[in-house]
Amino acid sequence: MTIKKDQLIVGIETSCDETAVAIVKNGKEIVANVVASQIESHKRFGGVVPEIASRHHVEQVTLVLEEAFRQGKVGIEEIDAIAVTEGPGLVGALLIGVNAAKALAFAHNIPLVNVHHIAGHIYANRLIEEMKFPLLSLVVSGGHTELVFMKEHGHFEVIGETRDDAAGEAYDKVARVLGLPYPGGPHIDRLAHEGTADLDLPRAWLETGSYDFSFSGLKSAVINTVHNAEQRGEKIAPETLAASFQASVVDVLVTKAVQAAKEYKVKQVLLAGGVAANKGLRAALTTAFESLEDIQLVIPPLSLCTDNAAMIAAAGSILFDKGKRADLTLNGNPGLEISIHN
Ligand code: KG4
Ligand code: ZN
Repeated sequence: MTIKKDQLIVGIETSCDETAVAIVKNGKEIVANVVASQIESHKRFGGVVPEIASRHHVEQVTLVLEEAFRQGKVGIEEIDAIAVTEGPGLVGALLIGVNAAKALAFAHNIPLVNVHHIAGHIYANRLIEEMKFPLLSLVVSGGHTELVFMKEHGHFEVIGETRDDAAGEAYDKVARVLGLPYPGGPHIDRLAHEGTADLDLPRAWLETGSYDFSFSGLKSAVINTVHNAEQRGEKIAPETLAASFQASVVDVLVTKAVQAAKEYKVKQVLLAGGVAANKGLRAALTTAFESLEDIQLVIPPLSLCTDNAAMIAAAGSILFDKGKRADLTLNGNPGLEISIHN
């Protein structure tokens, strides 16, 4: 009898402002997970500065790689593949991860697998729960708001997406208007729980049957409400603004996710992306899916919602098993689409 050896995949993620390396066993078990955040360096600019992000990645990537191998007590000769984020993201930032991955793959003759960042966010769920198909993923991050239908591993069909601002982007912009630090999402989330949603802010439902989203109208409505109040010499409590804004975002996200889950008759709904850390969204989704007994809702722990490399290794493991390989011509691709068969 032959005993199947455990599969070990290294994940590398540098698409935005976290330099991250992880080692994942058999696509599901985290052996090491290291994230070096640059948030402190970008905070004073109120957002991610691409040039600064690239420089930090260059400084950090080797250290983070070494730390992951140390944490995991794993040798490079035990690694089956290197999975790296190809895109989307900031081109200068992506290039650092891609080049680190290529160097490692070339020097040690290890297969290289290119991964879509959003596929990574979705596969973060596999680190806590077995995926059951067909499934629907609600992806809400700083750059994306999407409903992704999956009929099997590696199949990604975008059935709805944002037509303007992503959910996280709207959070960050509204936070700026309220004078909160970057990234604003967690601050609005905290304030929202201290206030009540008394303001009647718009919800962009779009055409009947559309699973697309739009958050720029809501963002403008918040900004106008603040400015109009200022002109009258009044001040609306930030807690009220945060609670009302969050109620509007959550209402649209949850309603559309429930509708799509029913229409596509899915077995599971997976929450993914940085905004998945939002307490209001987590609570509202949990309540909405409680009565839908045939559909299992999966919500990753906070550490796996924001950018990390364990999710890239988890997605990479599936793609590696399906035979996907990249060669040394691999480049960072800032506008990479999540195709049906990735
Ligand atoms: O997925 P992510 O780490 O990076 C991208 O791929 O974009 O998401 C970052 C986004 C930021 O816009 C941040 O404000 C938002 O996730 N975020 C939140 C919360 N935590 C992070 N938004 C709302 N509520 C939160 N608790
Ligand atoms: Zn992300």
